[in-house]
Amino acid sequence: MKQVFNFNAGPAALPKEVLQKAQAELLNYQDSGLSVMELSHRSKQYESIQNHATERLRTLMNIPDDYDILYMQGGASLQFSAVPMNFLKEGKTANYCLTGSWSEKALKEAKKVGSTHIASSSKEANYSHIPESLELSDNPAYLHITSNNTIFGTQWRTTPDLPAKVPLIADMSSDILSRSIPVDDYSLIYAGAQKNLGPSGVTVVIVKKELLERCPDNLPTMLNYQTYAKNSSLYNTPPTFSIYMLSLVLDWVADQGGVEQIEAINTEKANLLYHVIDSSDNFYKGPARNDSRSNMNVTFTLPSEMLTKKFLQQASESGFVGLSGHRLIGGCRASIYNAVPLAHCEKLAQFMKDFHTNFM
Ligand SMILES: Cc1ncc(COP(=O)(O)O)c(C=O)c1O
Repeated sequence: MKQVFNFNAGPAALPKEVLQKAQAELLNYQDSGLSVMELSHRSKQYESIQNHATERLRTLMNIPDDYDILYMQGGASLQFSAVPMNFLKEGKTANYCLTGSWSEKALKEAKKVGSTHIASSSKEANYSHIPESLELSDNPAYLHITSNNTIFGTQWRTTPDLPAKVPLIADMSSDILSRSIPVDDYSLIYAGAQKNLGPSGVTVVIVKKELLERCPDNLPTMLNYQTYAKNSSLYNTPPTFSIYMLSLVLDWVADQGGVEQIEAINTEKANLLYHVIDSSDNFYKGPARNDSRSNMNVTFTLPSEMLTKKFLQQASESGFVGLSGHRLIGGCRASIYNAVPLAHCEKLAQFMKDFHTNFM
């Protein structure tokens, strides 16, 4: 099989061991004579897969008992609407920190539901950093942040300081499970699975039970978080195969030694690439400010459009996949989620150094 180094931004690399396990079980799941894809979502076998994923995630992320874990569809993009529909009431204002295109999109959907306020923004600085301070509106319904900005390559280092009663809601699509976080600082966390958790198709929502009391009864059933919480995410047919893959990825994270161990490797991977950028005499430039750099998406530019093209072309010929920057901002981006091995980052670091040397 062709050896490639996958730096795709999402859907992204999956652990090889997970793909091998899924392959081995594909036709005959635990002697059932059926594929997981063919199991009823009401069967005991499927129920135990989903329960296993939930228990694993709770343990790995230290999720307290007063939080529900929900499995939804529609990606993080549906959450952009679901969050304000459930929690933005008349007389309240939804607060957003603008740190990139995904938070802009989240804000756009909230505006359709009710009153909104930009609590902080780094738009004027081309989203090169996470704003230091924020200003809340009167009567805030919640504060929404995007913990990792996949396109611009920036990441929140700490949780913003908020008055106790203001719920903090985070889109963690591109850094969930990549580092230890204090879950109880958040009222709701959501993440599409296709970067750190598994294949696309399932969106994980971690929500404080207390917040669910605010969901209005008149919402469309499938947009109301209560529907998922009350029915163990089995009101309708869930994305069963994606949840099975999620359970295998979570087992893999546990086998690696858990989130702390994963975090240490992720830091090492990111440092390797940032070191090449920083020691290249401005040949490679990182648009993200040092104090806001992401450990998941390393963005960089080369001195000209022509060199960028040449870099991407040679990288592709050497087996590197997914290094083009997002179509909105161009340049290059290496997405180094949990499943991207350290060895692949070492290969990329060497390739970047060699490309630079050959150019000189
Ligand atoms: C931070 C972030 N939020 C939201 C999205 C949109 O996710 P989805 O395609 O699952 O709707 C993405 C996709 O890359 C993302 O990186």
